[in-house]
Amino acid sequence: MKTLIARSLKFEAGVVKVLDQYLLPHQQVWHECRDVATMSDLILTLKVRGAPLIGLAASLLVAYLSEQGEDKVTIAHAINTLEATRPTAVNLMHAMAKLRSVLDKPDWQTQLVTTAEQLFEEDAALCDRMATIGATLVNAGDNILTHCNTGALATAGVGTALGVIHHAAKQHRNIHVWVDETRPLLQGGRLTAFELQAWQIPYTLICDNMAASLMAAGKVDKIFVGADRIAANGDVANKVGTYNLAVLAHFHQIPFYVVAPVTTVDSRCLSGEQIPIEQRERAEVTGVSGSFGHCQWAPDNAEIYNPAFDVTPASLITGWVLDTGLYSASDVESGIFSLG
Ligand code: MRU
Repeated sequence: MKTLIARSLKFEAGVVKVLDQYLLPHQQVWHECRDVATMSDLILTLKVRGAPLIGLAASLLVAYLSEQGEDKVTIAHAINTLEATRPTAVNLMHAMAKLRSVLDKPDWQTQLVTTAEQLFEEDAALCDRMATIGATLVNAGDNILTHCNTGALATAGVGTALGVIHHAAKQHRNIHVWVDETRPLLQGGRLTAFELQAWQIPYTLICDNMAASLMAAGKVDKIFVGADRIAANGDVANKVGTYNLAVLAHFHQIPFYVVAPVTTVDSRCLSGEQIPIEQRERAEVTGVSGSFGHCQWAPDNAEIYNPAFDVTPASLITGWVLDTGLYSASDVESGIFSLG
């Protein structure tokens, strides 16, 4: 396989390497990955995270195993295991389905490698197209609010929602970003703040529960978020807390945009109710972990509820920015996401 380099994922010197997103921003540690158990663990523990990146990392590992001479049964098993690591982000299922579809070809080993390479290289191009389209929605001086992390760390390119902000900030110097911390795993506070700082884009970090008062004070002009799965009716699953923002944006009449590659659309999923929502472990809610270790603040036996994602109904979304274009509610109602 050729050398492939992105911000948090590489295929280099014959091995898959991932930047540990759990330890960012205070430690930059790269892990080498040579087997399914290691990659599954990296994905499950969110060291590798973000809908597009999960699919790409899993694909590179499958291609690596093929190059190592693993047989077809082992590869098929690897694809199934990796696909089952996280249930909500459909990009992972999309990538694994593409790899599975070449297993019947006579030259399947070569095709696994070229398919993984293509998925990786295409992702950067998809990001550029979304960023270019989305940036046309941004005006000079806009205060943009975003949730979770959707930047270069989460993709093989510049990102989805954060890619839009990156491109807009290049065009207009006075863009400012409100960054939700994104409880419980703090992807905003740890990762989005880190990326905006590196890009020298002015930002202010807020706790998630501060968004309402900011909107009421007229300090948010637009909201851009990513997506883990878009249903045929336009409902969007994204990091938990996205729905809160959409409700608030609707009340305060603030435009709310979702940015995602077309591979995030799942036309077989008719509505958000059919999107499987990942439930995660209690320690994420009872405390916080990172490069500093773990700190628990809740009582040992506290009951917890920890869905990693929520579903924002299409009725609260102003526009869907895909690499193929900007879609409105009427486009979605006319079945643009049902085409498969
Ligand atoms: O649990 P995570 O950190 O993988 O969740 C990530 C998100 O919800 C992102 O908004 C989404 O994957 C889009 S990333 C370009």
